[in-house]
Amino acid sequence: MTQIEREINEILVASKLKLNGHDNMFYFRFASNLKYIISLYHQIYGLDRDQELIYLTNLMIKTWKERADVLKERDIQKDNMESWFTDHNIVGMSLYVDRFANNISNLKEKLPYLEQLGINFLHLMPIMKSPENESDGGYAVSDFKAVEDRFGTLEDLIKLQKHLLEHNMYLMLDVVINHTSHHHEWAQKAKNGDKTYENYFYTFEDRNLPDQFDSTMPEIFPHSSPGNFTWSSEMKKWVMTVFNYYQWDLNYTNPSVFLAMMDTIFFYGNLGVDILRVDAPAFIWKKLGTTCQNLDEAHLILKLFRACVDVATPGMALLGEAIVAPKAIMKYFGSESENECSVAYNATHMALQWDALATGETSVMLMSQGDIYHKPKSTTWINYTRCHDDIGLGFTDENIIKAGFSPYEHRKFLKDYYSGNYSGSDATGLLFAYNPKTEDARISGTLASLCGLEKAITSQDKNNLNKSINKILMMQANSIFMGGIPMLFYGDEVGYTNDYSYQTDPGKEYDNRWAHRPIIDWNKNQKANQLDTIENRIYTGTQKLINIRKSHACITDTNNTLWIECGNKHLIGFRRWNENEEMTFIFNYSPHKIYMSVNQYHLDGNQFRDLWHGQIINIRENANLLVFDPYQFRILLKLQ
Ligand code: GLC
Repeated sequence: MTQIEREINEILVASKLKLNGHDNMFYFRFASNLKYIISLYHQIYGLDRDQELIYLTNLMIKTWKERADVLKERDIQKDNMESWFTDHNIVGMSLYVDRFANNISNLKEKLPYLEQLGINFLHLMPIMKSPENESDGGYAVSDFKAVEDRFGTLEDLIKLQKHLLEHNMYLMLDVVINHTSHHHEWAQKAKNGDKTYENYFYTFEDRNLPDQFDSTMPEIFPHSSPGNFTWSSEMKKWVMTVFNYYQWDLNYTNPSVFLAMMDTIFFYGNLGVDILRVDAPAFIWKKLGTTCQNLDEAHLILKLFRACVDVATPGMALLGEAIVAPKAIMKYFGSESENECSVAYNATHMALQWDALATGETSVMLMSQGDIYHKPKSTTWINYTRCHDDIGLGFTDENIIKAGFSPYEHRKFLKDYYSGNYSGSDATGLLFAYNPKTEDARISGTLASLCGLEKAITSQDKNNLNKSINKILMMQANSIFMGGIPMLFYGDEVGYTNDYSYQTDPGKEYDNRWAHRPIIDWNKNQKANQLDTIENRIYTGTQKLINIRKSHACITDTNNTLWIECGNKHLIGFRRWNENEEMTFIFNYSPHKIYMSVNQYHLDGNQFRDLWHGQIINIRENANLLVFDPYQFRILLKLQ
């Protein structure tokens, strides 16, 4: 045993935890992670870090001691379920509390609406203190531990969490680890000349180093916050601001920043958060001469966060919000022996769905699955069609080429298709963060508008209306049945189209992502219960998909998704199975009627029930062709 291990053990003994009784779970996890935690810490911050490691130990003990008994019981329950977050019964929704229900206490009243749809996992978009007109939708946090007044109070949040727990619903909140608002106490102190807090950020006297950094760092918001640095007139220094000018990047080379953020993470853990969405982890380590994204040290920090969470708030899983290239994303899961995030966004597949919908072809989608196929056991994806952010076309050039397209032309087509620059397109979307230097751009717009509903309503074209509803449900079906947690975005369940009111709102007009962040009009949402309305068709369709998901255990993610090449470039399929059942899902992303020839390889069996259409399909008796209407999908449960 090393000196520091001995000291830590003494602290543990002095802590008066009941190592054999009530606190056994903590003790066991602490003992098995201790060497690993020390080693990660040394790798990041170097040796001779005993004081900090002792601080970290005390923080873990304090966190565990303060953890409510009901959460400790839940920790044990979750521990007994193998990777609870992979379960087919979980279906999530992301929503802005104020735009959905005004505030946290009203949200409680809206829960029956969500439960009726089948939602049992809530992602509340950031609700911690954030200055209203410099907020980035709450991602510029000025106090990590206080709820923003317009949403309510910390008490309201605690009450809501209890209510969710009683209703068997899970809660996800964000921790914004990469930056703070420039109104955060740390930034304020730095501005007032406090050197300790200046070291919490990256600050520079002149443009020498910022220019060097800028030469290799991409720009995230080139249209509204070009470059990666902002001049602080108070400090008379340049500050690193990778996102908006008001979001100051935290300096993780300073261990105090790590420890402060660890404390914040534990705070959320003890609030009863089930999944913590770790915002923008790809950016947390910076090094000259690199893109300052996905660096090895960022992964070490995430592994360290994870190991400490496993010890002190074990029921809380970490979601890494890394929207990065397909090969880079896999590293955020860590490995079987060195765990990192349990959950990650499948942004690659999300973007590929939009690719397939625009081109009517599935070849890039199929080519790309190999890159994101082999994730470690006990990890899962968030699958989604839309979220609060833009759609980035981040899949790899190599796969676009393999599918027979030119990457430049292909991406240009997609951007044109979704932003109104291609005459054959039904979509109404907007280009986001266009960078004239690189011609890069991402796409904004709601699921419904991008699927053609906005145009169909304006032109009152019944065929197009039906077509857009079919597209919406097909896109949702793909996300709901792939391996992982489906995360719906609020408003999409009743077909909200783009909201252009942000254009005249001073805190939002520079950011067209607000076009797809609707303010809920409950008169509209109530039409979900009114037969044959657009809202009703989308809502009940989505509800039916969710019910099917919940009725079939083979949809639990055990890395059991096998992609199927359907012998036709417009179709794509995958198969899911467990020891009792097998299901095959096939999607037609094209506007054409498609005849798929069914042979042994594609559908290994004789009789299937199509759970979406309610038909029995006898492969042997009814010839060997499966017919797909435009944007039709089939959910085939093998019967024999
Ligand atoms: C994440 C959020 C995004 C935000 C950014 C900066 O990517 O999803 O909305 O702008 O982080 O915090």
